[in-house]
Amino acid sequence: MSLWETIIDKLQTAYPDIIEISDLIQASEESIETIQHGIQKLKQQGFPIVISGNQLTLDFPLLSKEELNKNLQTQELANEITVFDSIDSTNTYAKTHLSSIPHGSVFLAHEQVQGKGRLGRTWSSPAGKSMSISLVLKPSEILPDASLLTQLTAAALTKALEDEVSVQIKWPNDVLINKMKIAGILTEAEFSAGKLQGIIIGIGINTNLEKTDFSKELQHKATSLREQLGEKIDPNHLLTRFLSYFEKYYKNFIENNSTETFLSICKEHSILIGRKLWIHSNDTKRKALIRTIDSSGSLVVTYLDTKQTEKIISTNVSIRDENGYI
Ligand code: BTN
Repeated sequence: MSLWETIIDKLQTAYPDIIEISDLIQASEESIETIQHGIQKLKQQGFPIVISGNQLTLDFPLLSKEELNKNLQTQELANEITVFDSIDSTNTYAKTHLSSIPHGSVFLAHEQVQGKGRLGRTWSSPAGKSMSISLVLKPSEILPDASLLTQLTAAALTKALEDEVSVQIKWPNDVLINKMKIAGILTEAEFSAGKLQGIIIGIGINTNLEKTDFSKELQHKATSLREQLGEKIDPNHLLTRFLSYFEKYYKNFIENNSTETFLSICKEHSILIGRKLWIHSNDTKRKALIRTIDSSGSLVVTYLDTKQTEKIISTNVSIRDENGYI
């Protein structure tokens, strides 16, 4: 274990209690100076470490394999959990090692330094304050339609949050509170010689970020659960709830080809349906009335210029209001 990992692991295990610097000296066999330097670096990185003399604690809990294993009730998901302190991207990791990763494995990171978003965008995952999750699926049956997994994920996350806060879904992959983004989903399917090798569902959730953690241009478009709920979030509880819902909808999807439950959640929570919005695709933009999400998960829209009704299946589009988001 690196010094970084030792410090985070000890703090997380003790949470909400404090630990002494002497505990870290014992665990790492490093000098007090090296440890103090390590703690300062972690703090600068953004980890929520509170220091008082020779004692330290966490301001809020971090993702932890032990905490997750205490409460997880899933059968086929999360039998293998890996938590990285810092990584380029959990999706990139899962993609690179896909052939040796068992179905249902979960990869988590306290920090991503090259997080990937949809449409080639970057995704910011500041240390300790956001959740970066990649879930690897290797279905034994032929999947009815892998692209629907993004909406299944959005529905599972909505259900996991619904008891605490009212959530909207921006088809197909954004989860919002008060019209501001709190989570994004990036589903990647890997094929080799025409055969599906696996699907990686990447989910980024803004859990404990504060307003100032967002860049200026994101401050009115993105938010965190902490900001919206007015309290610090335990990412382990949220992930446990999310995985239970995900497993339920996924089983029903694979075994019975059933999309009804999760697509109804996406429809009920849709922030798009019934509105006139701009559909951006490549270099063009057209205004359309967003009618519904049909049983295949497509967005049904009527363009205002031609009055034609079309189904949008490509996720290579962005849907925006006059102000550029929603
Ligand atoms: C989006 O809204 O554009 C999708 C964002 C997806 C971010 C997650 S964080 C975990 C996983 N690893 C990545 O590099 N991206 C996804």
